[in-house]
Amino acid sequence: MHNKISKFIQEAESFSAETIEQIEAFRIKFLSKKGVISELFEEFKILPGEQKKEVGQLLNQLKNTLQDRINSLKDQLGSEVTTSNIQDLSLPGTAINQGSRHPISIVRKEILDIFSRIGFTVSEGPEIEDDKHVFSALNFPPEHPARDMQDTFFIEKNPDILLRTHTSSIQVRVMENTRPPIRTVSPGRVFRNEAISARAHCIFHQVEGLYIDEKVSFADLKQTLLYFAKELFGEDTKIRLRPSYFPFTEPSAEMDVSCNLCGGKGCNVCKYTGWLEVLGCGMVDPNVLDFNNIDSSKYTGFAFGMGIERIAMLKFQIRDLRLYFENDLRFLEQFSSVV
Ligand code: PHE
Repeated sequence: MHNKISKFIQEAESFSAETIEQIEAFRIKFLSKKGVISELFEEFKILPGEQKKEVGQLLNQLKNTLQDRINSLKDQLGSEVTTSNIQDLSLPGTAINQGSRHPISIVRKEILDIFSRIGFTVSEGPEIEDDKHVFSALNFPPEHPARDMQDTFFIEKNPDILLRTHTSSIQVRVMENTRPPIRTVSPGRVFRNEAISARAHCIFHQVEGLYIDEKVSFADLKQTLLYFAKELFGEDTKIRLRPSYFPFTEPSAEMDVSCNLCGGKGCNVCKYTGWLEVLGCGMVDPNVLDFNNIDSSKYTGFAFGMGIERIAMLKFQIRDLRLYFENDLRFLEQFSSVV
């Protein structure tokens, strides 16, 4: 009996477990009513008196060892995260909400990508500008009524410091710093002192393009814009150019695309004309080239400019421009599937 108990003590000391269930099975084996300990006590009862003292001590030692071992293993498992009984690996994971891009960013990227594919670089410039970059270098003489076309926010007068009213100012900076051939698109935020409504805002975004090289013609402008319109609105898109006026281009035009909602038949988005106005464009006025030290007898160029809000309105059928600036999640989350 002596040997038997010693073996059990050894077994208890070396017992280890990875789950609560294993510990419980071990406890039942030894400490339950019909377990090893009970059996040993039965045997103990019928021992001759002289052996009782020694065997009794050993039995108590075994019982304590078992209890200590079970307690310490339980503690260990408890502090190691009791994974076995709380974690159900078949449960679906917790969804991580992904943010979405703002529709203006989506369309801005798309426009820049389309022009990058035909060799245009991307250029940026400051939002706070001087008179030269926004007006003078673009053939707006002082006191010229065309300055009133763009309701300017002035920060300082004489010399004038202002918030840029168009991203054509970036093109002036590019002309100052690079020589032709120039092929660049300039995205950016612009500011105009206008009352906020569903169709106008005092802050909006533009992308403008500039192409200057020898022998650039109006046909190049038209073909580039046709490619752009098809890439943006679909292969079946048609364009038309209507005469217009900008101080920095001559001749100037306004470009319409065939309405992508009704396919040109007429609907309330295109006001039953079948056409949607999307951008302004023209051949760079020779005065602008000369002002920026580009020889107008050698070089010609075209330029175009568009509002990103307007393009996004047409692409996503957004009716109110103010939605872009409110950052209402119910609006923004609708773009989470667009990359
Ligand atoms: N800068 C013009 C605007 O803001 C757009 C434009 C750019 C028109 C280039 C023609 C050529 O309205």
